[in-house]
This record gives sequence, structure tokens and C-alpha cells, in this order.
Amino acid sequence: MFLKTTLAEVKDYVGQEVTIGAWVANKRSSGKIVFLQLRDGTAFIQGVVVKNEVSDEIFQLAKSLTQETSIYITGVVNVDERSPYGYELAVSKIEIIHESHDYPITPKNHGTEFLMDHRHLWLRSKRQHAVMKIRNEIIRSTYEFFNDRGFVKIDPPILTNNAPEGTTELFHTKYFDEDAFLSQSGQLHLEAAVMALGRVFSFGPTFRAEKSKTRRHLIEFWMMEPEMAFCEFEESLVVQEEYVSYIVQSVLKNCQIELKTLGRDTSKLEKVQAPFPRVHYDDAIKFLHEQGFDDIQWGDDFGAPHETAIANHHDKPVFITHYPKAIKPFYMQPDPTRDDVVLCADLIAPEGYGEIIGGSERIHDYDLLKQKLEEFNLPLDAYQWYLDLRKYGSVPHSGFGLGLERTVAWISGIEHVRESIPFPRLLNRLYP
Ligand code: 4AD
Ligand code: MG
Repeated sequence: MFLKTTLAEVKDYVGQEVTIGAWVANKRSSGKIVFLQLRDGTAFIQGVVVKNEVSDEIFQLAKSLTQETSIYITGVVNVDERSPYGYELAVSKIEIIHESHDYPITPKNHGTEFLMDHRHLWLRSKRQHAVMKIRNEIIRSTYEFFNDRGFVKIDPPILTNNAPEGTTELFHTKYFDEDAFLSQSGQLHLEAAVMALGRVFSFGPTFRAEKSKTRRHLIEFWMMEPEMAFCEFEESLVVQEEYVSYIVQSVLKNCQIELKTLGRDTSKLEKVQAPFPRVHYDDAIKFLHEQGFDDIQWGDDFGAPHETAIANHHDKPVFITHYPKAIKPFYMQPDPTRDDVVLCADLIAPEGYGEIIGGSERIHDYDLLKQKLEEFNLPLDAYQWYLDLRKYGSVPHSGFGLGLERTVAWISGIEHVRESIPFPRLLNRLYP
């Protein structure tokens, strides 16, 4: 009987003969030996076919294998210190499942547009595989972090009639006879859930019809949103810095091979340990003026170059706190000591990756919230349920949203968010 396993599991079978279902990622051959780069989704390992050790038929078959052909391959597992995974397969038998011809992505350089058009195949490559594994580790450790701290996972609706982050970036759709939008953020519904469950989090897709074409913007992206009752602004910052440290340290611990594949400088990630610096918006403006940025005034929002200048001054993510109320959403609690800024913070990642978290304390006073809704021209009837939360035992509460793809891009050290999600939705891309 043959022993069927996976490339990631071969470590348990050193010296034994195993069979693996795999694809031929690449191949090199000399007269007497064929090196097969095998992948099965769990790992990338080399199979070695030696002319004198297999039948002529198997050797010819190995020599003729084309890129991405699927096979069952049998061989003895050997330790190989040069391989990142530590093992190789001394091949004895190969059985073709399906032959692949003219695979479009070859080891040569392809342009980004070409690769994006072939995203359904590009995902198979080593670097993309590594990014998806890191994305998965961030998701896994996120659930672990929040579950360990008693947060309950809540799934807010995707189809809504509210606009937490402003009405200009909404995806509009018909909901039978009514108008509806795709969710920009689950926050408002999480605020209802937190009054039932105390500490909640959601993790789901969110949509922004932003006409931005930058390396940080997606049209559809995944957001991690915790919400905490009886929680004031500074207490929320502590959860944020502990959470971000936790996911970075989890990736360092569990994705060594992937970080190496991507050539990530891990010394920079090792420094990501709570606490993180906090910079008041007023001081951020002063700092930017000292750095020669004459283009920004108190009251303006930061652009990418401003965020990068502030981030470069620190070797950890940095909180920018207390932004002017005029550039933030309606629901943020005013600073009790002055009414021109709100109790909010953006967390800026190092190395130019920009804002990865936006968060705040929420207004918990009924009259103030109602006044804000009116100031922002939001229809009171659509928000009546949200106002209700301030009518029946309202409490201070805070929460935040972490953008998964920006976080994956930063931790992986990749240039653009388009590679941090399996199938990116970009300004000009709905395919594949
Ligand atoms: O700062 P934002 O807009 O905050 C909210 O939506 C709050 N309601 C969250 C909350 O308090 N529960 O978005 C949060 C994060 C940003 O910091 C950024 O990382 C990410 O979501 N993000 C995007 N990521 C990719 N593409 C886009 N177009 C993004 N817009 C926001
Ligand atoms: Mg924001």
C-alpha cells in the first residue's frame, strides 16, 4: 500500500516512501537527472529523478513533464538542508493526472496588467502563495486574539441604508422598491450589538466607491472591526496596539518561510511591540511644518506623503490622535476639553504603508448625536434605530476598524494592496 500525504507533512516520513498529488511548478534537467519543483498548495519541495534509479519509462516521462501538469508522484523523503522546507523527494514513480500545455505564466518577467488578467493562475506562484498564507495567519491570529479576550463575533449586514463614513463613496443598489447601499463599515450595527454583548468584533467585506487609484486603495476590502462598551478613547488605543503587536508577532512566529520567500526585512517587524507612540494632530502639523511641508494647514487631512513623513520618524506604528471634527465622520465624540477636535486616532503603519486603523470613541449623548446627524444632512428616519441606542441606558463606547489588505501588504512588505487579496476589485478591474 502506498502512503498518501502532502508536501507539508513529508517531515513526518523521512526515509519512507510516500505518494503526493502535486503540480510541476518548474523543471530543470541535465542528462542524468531531472529536478522537479513540486507544489501541492501546502509547500514547495524538489523531487529528484535519477536516470539510473528509475525505469527508462519514468525517466523519459519526468523529462517530458510540462509546467503545471498535475501528477501523483512517489518517492522516498530525504532531508535536504538547502531547501527552505528542509526536505526533498527521491522519486521512484510518476503518474500523470492531467497534462498542462502552454501555461501562460512562465518564469520570465510579465507585466503587472498581464499578471492581474491571469490572477486566477498567478495565485499559484510562490510569492502569491506566501502572501495568501500570511493573510491567513493574520486572520487566524485575529480570531485568536479577540476570542481569548471574550469578544463575540458579530456579522453586520452587507446591504444597508446607512452611510457611516460619508455619502460620497457609496455603492448604490436597488433593494426591491427601496434604495440601498453596500456596507462601508459594520460599525453602526456593531454599536447595537455591543449593547447586547459587551465586546464584539466583525470581520467582513466592505465597499468604497472611491475613484482612487493608489497602492493603498481597493474598492472591496476586508475590515476587522471591534467595538467595546464602557470603553473610553485611550482604553481603545491599548487594545489596538496590543492587537497589532499580536498579529505581527504571530506572523513572525508562524510564517518564517513565507517572509523569507518575500525577502521581507523581519528586523523591522520584530520592533513592532506595544506600546506605540501617540502624536496629537496639532503636533503632527507642527512636525510637518518643521519638515518643510508648507502645503498643509491646521484643519487639512493628511495625504500619503505626510503620513509617510510622520511614520518615518518612528520605528513602530504611530497613532495620530484628536483630528479636527470637520474632517471626521458624524459619530465621533468631541474632545471634552475643546470642541474643535474629536476623540479619534488613525494608526499609521511604518515604511510608508499609511493608515491601517481608523477608530474613535462614539457619541453616546442622544441630543448631541441627533444634532450631528442633522448637521451632516443624514436622514433621521434611517438612523432612528441608531439614535435609540442612546435612549435606553447609553454608555461610553469605542471601537476601530483595521483594513486587512493594507495590513497584509505592510507585514508582507509588498508594494501594492492589489496582491494582498485573492481577487482585487480595483477602479478598472472586475476580472477575474
Ligand atoms: O478609517 P475607516 O474609514 O474607518 C471606518 O470605517 C470606521 N467605521 C471603523 C470603525 O471605527 N469601526 O476605515 C478603516 C480602515 C482604514 O484605516 C484602512 O486601513 C482601511 O479600513 N480602508 C481601506 N483599505 C483598502 N482600500 C480602501 N479603499 C480603504 N478604505 C479604508
Ligand atoms: Mg480612516
